[in-house]
Amino acid sequence: MSAARSRRPPRAPGGERAPRLARCAARAILAGLWLGATAAHAQARVETPSIFRPASTPAFAIRELSWLVLGIAGAIFVLVAGVLVVSLVRFRDRGGGGAEPAQVYGSPRIELAWTLVPFLIVVVLFLTTARYIFALESARPGAAALRVRVIGHQWWWEIDYPDLGVVTANELHVPVSDPPGSVPTFLTLESADVIHSFWVPQLAGKLDLIPNARNQLWIDPQRPGTYVGQCAEFCGVQHAGMLLRVIAHPKAEFAAWVDAQRAPAVAEPAVAAGRRAFESAACVSCHTVRGTAANGIFGPDLTHLMSRSTLAAGVAPNERDRLRRWVEDPDAIKPGALMPAMRLSPEDLDRVVAYLATLR
Ligand code: CUA
Repeated sequence: MSAARSRRPPRAPGGERAPRLARCAARAILAGLWLGATAAHAQARVETPSIFRPASTPAFAIRELSWLVLGIAGAIFVLVAGVLVVSLVRFRDRGGGGAEPAQVYGSPRIELAWTLVPFLIVVVLFLTTARYIFALESARPGAAALRVRVIGHQWWWEIDYPDLGVVTANELHVPVSDPPGSVPTFLTLESADVIHSFWVPQLAGKLDLIPNARNQLWIDPQRPGTYVGQCAEFCGVQHAGMLLRVIAHPKAEFAAWVDAQRAPAVAEPAVAAGRRAFESAACVSCHTVRGTAANGIFGPDLTHLMSRSTLAAGVAPNERDRLRRWVEDPDAIKPGALMPAMRLSPEDLDRVVAYLATLR
């Protein structure tokens, strides 16, 4: 119980509760990680998606709670297994059919103990968890916060920055929040079709994206890097092919990314034939390329397609030959994908892919 009292929920941006243990733990872990870290580029380092390697305040809170629960459960396991092993060894049948051991019926002391102790354990776990949940949920986006809408689709993520005029897909770029909570990213989670679930284990707990509802989640990655996650709610045949990446950039690098994303699509004369072929195909009814006739919203925005590192929501690397295969026959890369094969002639396929490959 003293453990519960000494624990303080994590600091939430705009929240009221004071941080103590979470912040200290965060600092200690960050210090350790910084010591071991190299000055690798943010994009280059993809972290193992483990809840035991948190990088954001809500994830630090989850790890703290996990250790508490694991500690209590581990102690119970050791106690029960220990008593069991001692009993098995000490009171084993040594032959000779010994007498039946003393039988205990209706001992108020024993019954009280095995009712009260589990009850108190559940109370401690409940109260501690509730405090963490309220602390995290009391967060409100301040002036420095970045707001992002994340919309789940079968089977990809639409990522919209309403204040920045940027729309992208499957890769959520955010600024690093150092010190913790200084530049949090507040996500509004929505769905265009069925229930999906946003889960990036190193940054926050998972939260569903529900049709006709809006859920809120916040993250504040405290070191640059690429954090991988995935849809965590079965949403159809390509549920497993609905991966996402969160890329945390140092502030200046993030500003440069925003500038690049805001720029209109490049229009290289060398691939004008490909652009015409693209614009005259049905691609334009699902995809947007800003500054062209393509303004569909059913599929990902392709204005800066080649700035993304994967295709088809993380299913394949975004390389020229994979892109060609994807446009030629999406089913070959992602069976069941809702993008149809356009049945372009080989010449048009080459032209369209050559055009798409310029969309940096
Ligand atoms: Cu989206 Cu599972």
